[in-house]
Amino acid sequence: MSKSSENPAWKSLAAHALRMSERHLRDLFVENPKRSAVFSVDLGDIYVDFSRERIDTDVLAGLLALAEAADVPAFLGRMLSGGMVNESERRSALHAALRGSGPKELNVDGHNIRGEIARVDARVRNLIERIAAGEIKGYGGKIDTVLVLGIGGSEYGPAFVLDALQESITGPRVRFVGNIDGVTLDRALAGVDPSRTLAVLISKSFETTETKLNWAALKARHPKLPALAVTANILAARQAGFADGDVFPIWDWVGGRYSLWSAVGLPIALALGWPAFEALRAGAAEMDRHLLTAPVRENAPLLMGLIGVWNATFLGARSRAVIPYDSRLSAFIPYLQQLEMESNGKNVTQEGETVGYPTAPVRFGAVGTNAQHTFFQMLHQGTDMIPVDFLVPAVAATNDAGLHPTLLVNALAQADALMAGRPDVPKDQPYRAFGGNRPSTVVLYGKLDARVLGKLIALYEHRTAVEGALWDVNSFDQWGVELGKKMAVEIEPMLKGEKKPTPSLAALIARLGAFGKDAG
Ligand code: F6P
Repeated sequence: MSKSSENPAWKSLAAHALRMSERHLRDLFVENPKRSAVFSVDLGDIYVDFSRERIDTDVLAGLLALAEAADVPAFLGRMLSGGMVNESERRSALHAALRGSGPKELNVDGHNIRGEIARVDARVRNLIERIAAGEIKGYGGKIDTVLVLGIGGSEYGPAFVLDALQESITGPRVRFVGNIDGVTLDRALAGVDPSRTLAVLISKSFETTETKLNWAALKARHPKLPALAVTANILAARQAGFADGDVFPIWDWVGGRYSLWSAVGLPIALALGWPAFEALRAGAAEMDRHLLTAPVRENAPLLMGLIGVWNATFLGARSRAVIPYDSRLSAFIPYLQQLEMESNGKNVTQEGETVGYPTAPVRFGAVGTNAQHTFFQMLHQGTDMIPVDFLVPAVAATNDAGLHPTLLVNALAQADALMAGRPDVPKDQPYRAFGGNRPSTVVLYGKLDARVLGKLIALYEHRTAVEGALWDVNSFDQWGVELGKKMAVEIEPMLKGEKKPTPSLAALIARLGAFGKDAG
């Protein structure tokens, strides 16, 4: 059992959860029509309204007491100043240092990492200039396409940022290749002139099978393609034939899913330009400052993390949705899935004990208004309570006069409908009833530029760290992905007929063979 759950603050929250099960959000708004003033945080360009969460001032006080008892503020301070917060891998988690946050002097393993970050930044800037000037070329001319080979954190961060800000791309277009179905590679190469293409292989470990296989497949198709590597395993990159000048280092202290701020963000800097990459980092640094300096009751990532734990662990919500009313944030959904579930999908505490309570819920989502026409039925009338994060652009993305107001109306209407419900329906038509009392947080944001996007991403990064600290799990390791990787190696000879299949796989492997014959 974790030290969090043995805390009196934890026990008192369990009692509050019982009490709140009797309360309806509708009544809480009647009791205090100004709830939003109490349960919101205004950061200027980001406004977080959590008045539709199933909390009251006593619950909030209990959650803040839990944060204090679990030493969350101290943990966050340690994280930002290079403390070893990733115990199982004996590493710090210094992604915030990449955007300039934390103490000026930051030594890891005897190296001043500020100097190392600055040196790599200077190399990335130089690369951008030389590509723009046509000094670094494809084998047939000026580079107009960058093909990124990488998966997980080595794909999702850059892919999300570039998708969100695609209208601002001034440099080469970027295509991503993660999966090894062959189709991903085919599609990424469709319409591309290989002679004007640069490949960038991104892999922190330089050991990831998918990335290595896609690299081999690409080289087999286009042997002359120039390539760069981004990795923390310089030796492996060298062994794979990369010259040191073509390798951009990252470090052990950057987790894959937190790495877009490092040279993993090279595709972002190439496509959007260095100033935009700096603006992205600056926005995230604003969130770092806010996290460390804002009073607890006005601290957006802290409060969102507390409410995340309240919903998942105390109110028993085993999934949660994120609904961006903004297509530019559609790739935020898979990004968040990795961020939250790879970070906090854990069942042992930092001390190696079984947690004994539910940790990370399933994160899923889709863009509003599309989502309203699919799974919102379940959000309103399903048997599960599914908390929602509504991400709403306060400023229209285009000049089409009629669209944005209706988009806003839809987002607000959904949040209020989930909250209030509609119980007053004819008795013989119970299928029309909406119980309401379904929690949500509304996050409004201003003009979606690189800075605001960086701030939004850091809000969720820190929220995830807060949740992990409360659950007492290590948010920075990912041992759960290891077993699948190992088993893939063991199963390969079975598929090739070199080893007897396990009883559980025998039928599938036999049937796969038959499919092969049918096709052939
Ligand atoms: O398998 C999961 C994972 O380890 C992620 O944590 C990571 O982002 C991804 O694989 C890719 O790893 P790498 O950058 O080392 O290729």
